Amino acid sequence: MICLGNICRSPTAHGVLEKLIQNKDLSEFIEVDSAGTSNYHIGDHPDPRSIAAAQRRGYSLDKQVARQVRANDFEEFDYILAMDVDNLHHLESAAPSGCKAKLQLLLSFSNEATESVPDPYFGDAGQGFEVVLDLVEDACRCLLEKLQRELSTTKTEQ
Ligand code: 4NP
Repeated sequence: MICLGNICRSPTAHGVLEKLIQNKDLSEFIEVDSAGTSNYHIGDHPDPRSIAAAQRRGYSLDKQVARQVRANDFEEFDYILAMDVDNLHHLESAAPSGCKAKLQLLLSFSNEATESVPDPYFGDAGQGFEVVLDLVEDACRCLLEKLQRELSTTKTEQ
């Protein structure tokens, strides 16, 4: 899960998907991580407003620590999912040609028409963080359904 700072949107998506995976007892099969395209917040915990909004819906983000996207991510992960179009473009220009990871928008898995998760960082403490959670929860549920279908196909092939 990728955004600009790795302190608001991508940690939220990381925490939400991780919890959905735990609820379905799939943690041994699916790994989630998050990073930022910028170096602005390396080493920081998520924004307190993101932690609080996520906590109210039962997700824990407080153990996460921000990092920047690294070259190895493009080989290590199957999917690298950007929170918005700018960050997707950044990933596309940083990716080695023929890399393993599929680069997509997280919201391409969503039922919503919106392409990008709006950046809540410069807004006030309230609504922006709830919008992030609404969009991310919907997309992560759809994404996990797809990953489960892929896992069952892989298992049948083995
Ligand atoms: P994020 O939000 O990309 O969702 O983590 C931001 C966090 C920090 C900044 C911008 C966006 N910043 O400019 O420091």
